[in-house]
Amino acid sequence: MAIQLTRHTFDAVIVGAGGAGLYGALELAKAGVNLAVLTKLYPTRSHTGAAQGGIGAALGNLEEDSWEWHAFDTCKGGDYLTDQDAVEFMCREAVETVIELEHLGLPFSRTPEGKIAQRRFGGHTRNHGEGPVRRSCYAADRTGHMILQTLYQGCIKRNVEFFDEFHVLDLIMDQGAAHGVLAYEIKTGALHLFETKGVIFATGGSGRMFSITSNAHALTGDGMAIALNNGIPLEDMEFFQFHPTGIYKMGILLSEAARGEGGIVRNHGGERFMQRYTPTLLDLAPRDIVSRCIYHEVREGRGIDGKDYVHLDLTHLGRRVLDEKLPDITEFVRTYMGLEPATQMIPIQPTAHYAMGGIPTDKTSRVLAKADGAKVTGFYAAGECACVSVHGANRLGTNSLVDILVFGRQAGRSLKEDLPRLSFSSIADTKADQAIELLERFRANARNPHAEPIGQLRDEMKRAMMDLCGVYRTQEGLKQCLRRIGDLRERIRKARIMDVSATFNTEILEAIELHNLINLSWVTAAGALRREESRGGHFREDFPKRDDAQWLNHTFCALKGNDLEFSSKPVTITRFQPQERKY
Ligand code: FUM
Repeated sequence: MAIQLTRHTFDAVIVGAGGAGLYGALELAKAGVNLAVLTKLYPTRSHTGAAQGGIGAALGNLEEDSWEWHAFDTCKGGDYLTDQDAVEFMCREAVETVIELEHLGLPFSRTPEGKIAQRRFGGHTRNHGEGPVRRSCYAADRTGHMILQTLYQGCIKRNVEFFDEFHVLDLIMDQGAAHGVLAYEIKTGALHLFETKGVIFATGGSGRMFSITSNAHALTGDGMAIALNNGIPLEDMEFFQFHPTGIYKMGILLSEAARGEGGIVRNHGGERFMQRYTPTLLDLAPRDIVSRCIYHEVREGRGIDGKDYVHLDLTHLGRRVLDEKLPDITEFVRTYMGLEPATQMIPIQPTAHYAMGGIPTDKTSRVLAKADGAKVTGFYAAGECACVSVHGANRLGTNSLVDILVFGRQAGRSLKEDLPRLSFSSIADTKADQAIELLERFRANARNPHAEPIGQLRDEMKRAMMDLCGVYRTQEGLKQCLRRIGDLRERIRKARIMDVSATFNTEILEAIELHNLINLSWVTAAGALRREESRGGHFREDFPKRDDAQWLNHTFCALKGNDLEFSSKPVTITRFQPQERKY
């Protein structure tokens, strides 16, 4: 196809400018590597900014703590599907990483003595579950924002070249190695081919496949879908986390820090119902458990006024705590609900929050080509788009920030280390054909007044995933979900957009994003149907127990023609033998 491609050449290309992408970029820039960062947003608008409550790291500033206890909690919280070598690495590195961020200038909240302040978060305990521990290092409830600002400033200082509002369309592979990236410039509609020796994907999650989600509009799983389309398997996609405290009907996140500071979840009768389910950790049990308990209360008729929500009660915390420690979320409640959290209870429901699965990597952030551990040369992934796997079947709060920082920086280090062995490949224009064909198809469909609008398909996908592949799942529901998603995979081929202009055509990008999300929904629902057990964020009502004999393994799912092909990878267990998860 005769379309003009603008070519660029960099030794390293990073896609995504959230915490993982920026930290990888900083590491490469410090070594003087010639690199580019592509991002579909402006860096400081990345979804890392939505992470409110803090970074888990065993600094022990307020009480005794150890990285080993952090690792234990992470494995137990993840229902023992975590790879423990990677967890150990992450929890050790977390401590030094937080100190490095402090030295980079991140304005953490402080204790009266001037140390980094720490607070409680769900599932984080002292001495292997004895009781809650203050481990989350925070900057009020704006921790993610502060990370973005700090790392972005670091990159600017080192003259990192950013391509803002460049939307990645494809990964260019040659003989099993990554050699480039194709991107769409949102301002002009022009296509750009970035030739490189190594690519880091730090493209974030895919929560927009659900109708109620805390995820920003941009979280459409682009990197994961592109990897899948290029023959790279995805790992553990059936595990999706629902955060218990999303604003009712909107899904906007109210940080777990609210419960860390003493907030309570109550049912219609005003009962602190978590007392009945997890008497030790109460409202601060891991998220999968609290979310299921909320659903259970609602099903038993104890939702507020019999409806599908419960209350988050912050009224006893006092205005000083709300203003100093939870200023953003209390403002969200005022703005979006017209309620005053100091005196009124807040309607909440579980909201799709985090993809535990993603592009498989080892603990050095190098991407795996197969379940047997073979690597994809020149390809690295970090953050929510990747599956290391440090979160297993359910991520603990604060561990996503640890993950993006530790493994984002590691991705930069690994690429820097590999650079002497990596090379450029001459990329033919035809490598862009598949992506161009997709863009052209959406443009051509615009002329057909009988074609379905993409918005209609998006609503159907979100509804199917929320109702049939959400907090509770069954075989029958998942089969129905797969039928609906299969139907959407067909229909999107003929769906139309209205805007065919070149300048700031966000609609055509929404069509591409929907295409990505539908494929990822397919992988998620198919994995959920295949896994006949309940573990962490994956709860099968027809198989309500965890089944280590059959299922203590990772799911790998690859695209083969028009089908999905599954394989399994053993879980790495080093020091924590799987136990029943009691809190
Ligand atoms: O609740 C929160 O502040 C979210 C943090 C996280 O997902 O780690």
